[in-house]
Amino acid sequence: MNQFLDDVLNGLRSSPKYLQSKYFYDKGGDKLFEKIMQCKEYYLTNCELEIFSTQTPQLADIIIDHHKNFDVVELGPGNAVKSFYLLQELAHKNAIATYFPVDISDNIIRLLQKKLSKQLPQLNIHGLHGEYLSMLTAAKEVSDKIKLVLFLGSNIGNIPKKNIHDFCKQLRSQLSTGDMVLIGIDLTKNPKQIRNAYDDSEGYTKKFNLNLLKRINRELNGNFKINNFDHYATYDPSTGACRSFLVSLKYQVVTVGENETFYFQKNESVFMEISQKYSIEETDEVAVNSGFAPIAHFFDKNKWFTDVIWKCV
Ligand SMILES: C[S@@+](CC[C@H](N)C(=O)[O-])C[C@H]1O[C@@H](n2cnc3c(N)ncnc32)[C@H](O)[C@@H]1O
Repeated sequence: MNQFLDDVLNGLRSSPKYLQSKYFYDKGGDKLFEKIMQCKEYYLTNCELEIFSTQTPQLADIIIDHHKNFDVVELGPGNAVKSFYLLQELAHKNAIATYFPVDISDNIIRLLQKKLSKQLPQLNIHGLHGEYLSMLTAAKEVSDKIKLVLFLGSNIGNIPKKNIHDFCKQLRSQLSTGDMVLIGIDLTKNPKQIRNAYDDSEGYTKKFNLNLLKRINRELNGNFKINNFDHYATYDPSTGACRSFLVSLKYQVVTVGENETFYFQKNESVFMEISQKYSIEETDEVAVNSGFAPIAHFFDKNKWFTDVIWKCV
């Protein structure tokens, strides 16, 4: 069974059509996401980098106050530039036993193992290639220590708001009382600023979305003509939902897999990704309703982004 193929076919058979953003991350997608993080409009990375580069000792102290030694599981670490600050601090204080980076991109896991074993040779690293929650189960099979789960970069925003309680309850059910999570969440703010972050002037976000069509062509025998699609981002300030779409620029016929045919009307959209924004009150409400106690909030100087610490109760 090919899950990627099944998910793509199901998405393209639906009306309206959609693709799942977790498939953005192949080698090309990983590189494009690095470019997005450097774009002037993509404020999220700089905000969270500011938090980790200036407040890591305080973050670490709160965690170490609760537990002297624990495993760290990071869900979707990407290049781990922000978590590196914390890993370094925890390693320095002999607080971390093993670091389990969990990522759907095997390229990310390979790169991280290589990079971190050079930068932090004392760190014990156990990479896990796969989906967030199933790999958390896999981590539990080899670790019986108290855990700190990192979920940074507003990855949590890729979960639709209607599913957020379910996801956090499932996360909680995988953990034990006393385990902690540290989640990076993008906060509601000026709508134009948010929309621009997902529609950068250099066009990397567009390339990032189109890269999924290239991946389908390469891995699933598709024949998308990339130039026949444009990228469109929208932000709804009344719900906090930022959504990305690809738009078909003409009527066209595309085949995927064993010759399954899809018809795209001119201006038909394909939903690609949600990046949900929250108020700080909403984040506390999600924590409490999912079996966590919010114990700290860290902010960048503009209060555009927060890193929250929740404890399993
Ligand atoms: C938006 S990037 C953020 C990376 C990093 N957390 C940061 O703050 O820079 C999302 C990362 O999560 C991974 N990812 C996305 N969906 C995933 C899933 N369902 N399961 C596991 N990893 C996933 C991607 O491969 C990528 O490395």
